[in-house]
Amino acid sequence: MTETKYTLPESAIPERWYNIQADMPNPPQPVLHPGTGQPVGPDDLAPLFPMELILQEVSQEAEIAIPEPIRDVYRLWRPTPLFRAHRLEAELGTKSHIYYKYEGVSPAGSHKPNTAVAQAYYVKEDGRTRVSTETGAGQWGSALSLASRLFGLECKVYMVRISYEQKPYRRSMIETWGAQVVPSPSEDTQAGRAILAESPDSPGSLGIAISEAVEDAAGREDTAYSLGSVLNHVLTHQTVIGQEALAQMEQAGEFPDVVIGCVGGGSNFSGLAFPFLREKIAGKEIDVLACEPAACPTLTRGPFAYDFGDTGRLTPLVPMHTLGHDFVPAAIHAGGLRYHGMAPLVSQLVLDGLIRAEAYTQGEVFASALRFARSEGIIPAPEAAHAVHGAIGAAAAADEAGEQRTILFNLSGHGHFDLGAYDAYLAGKLEDIALADEEIERALEAIEALPKPAAGVS
Ligand SMILES: Cc1ncc(COP(=O)(O)O)c(C=O)c1O
Repeated sequence: MTETKYTLPESAIPERWYNIQADMPNPPQPVLHPGTGQPVGPDDLAPLFPMELILQEVSQEAEIAIPEPIRDVYRLWRPTPLFRAHRLEAELGTKSHIYYKYEGVSPAGSHKPNTAVAQAYYVKEDGRTRVSTETGAGQWGSALSLASRLFGLECKVYMVRISYEQKPYRRSMIETWGAQVVPSPSEDTQAGRAILAESPDSPGSLGIAISEAVEDAAGREDTAYSLGSVLNHVLTHQTVIGQEALAQMEQAGEFPDVVIGCVGGGSNFSGLAFPFLREKIAGKEIDVLACEPAACPTLTRGPFAYDFGDTGRLTPLVPMHTLGHDFVPAAIHAGGLRYHGMAPLVSQLVLDGLIRAEAYTQGEVFASALRFARSEGIIPAPEAAHAVHGAIGAAAAADEAGEQRTILFNLSGHGHFDLGAYDAYLAGKLEDIALADEEIERALEAIEALPKPAAGVS
């Protein structure tokens, strides 16, 4: 049998992030100021973000040097291991080879610290002392709380209420590292109070929590806003994942035919996939698959349009696949995938046919998560379980076609704080909620009056 685990020394932690904007066949369309309809410039963003991150957001350089203090923190858990899923392959009886890159070994338990550490570093360099952010499942909030601690920043987290209630230990983790966390919608912001006035029982959503965190940062000079996904620079920071995976696949003597990740805002997927898409754009044949929940099917059922990144309409207009900024997804357990929009870079690459997408119900996702946990041992985060399900489906499709394929997926985090979801599944209480076309049509009415993007190419 070949190796099970491919590891790299700390000296192999990448020295540069890969910026896919340099290689895209069609660049993403500009982000627009909602008042003027004109492209947003660095000065518009400066109240919220450190200038270095704004420059990374629009950079056309293929590679961006990773400052040494960031690499130094990465050493705490990077490089992450790449596993060959021998036992899952045997359980499936597949001829295909399945590999997964495991990001759950970070202190916070997911890929999120890869960008949290970078963002906290640049906020500190910018002379600010505090960050505000939102969190869905609590993974991002805990990652930023950790990173803020390591760079001596204060941190306030607006946590989607349903997760705040379902995941009390994520809250404890955020507080253990020293950040303040409140359920969103909260009474602390105008955006939160407005939602609570209309729906006191709102389960919250990422769109609402983003409004609160943006409002918080916009109102204070000492505070930067930090986003855990969607933005170009966040996706770029995550590319340490794919660069390491390229080296580890080489160690294994294989190259993937299929590369898979789950998508909420698109960051872990991009982190793994972009370095491989660089090879695809250069001519290699790779099937790149993004997996999303059927309860929040942004790529598979949402149009490519200009929309606000948040529910309170505080952000610029972003060109992306969207379900409409006031779409509140059903309270599925993969809280980190409950976002109405999608990263503009991922959206554009889907339009260009370089990435395809599939949507799954949570019942089938948890069935696959259990198969994985019972063969490989690791209990996946519900978000990551979408990628597990995608990989199992890709192996089945290869067997059906009589082919042996090499499949690589991102196991973006562990599910140790999501055991309530596993409990519900094991007790037969996990609901699959169908999302009617009428609900999507209703939510999309909110973007009818907004500017329309060019027809996919610019
Ligand atoms: C473990 C895990 N995977 C995936 C995601 C989805 O986010 P993204 O699409 O930005 O990777 C989250 C978000 O919270 C997460 O916690």
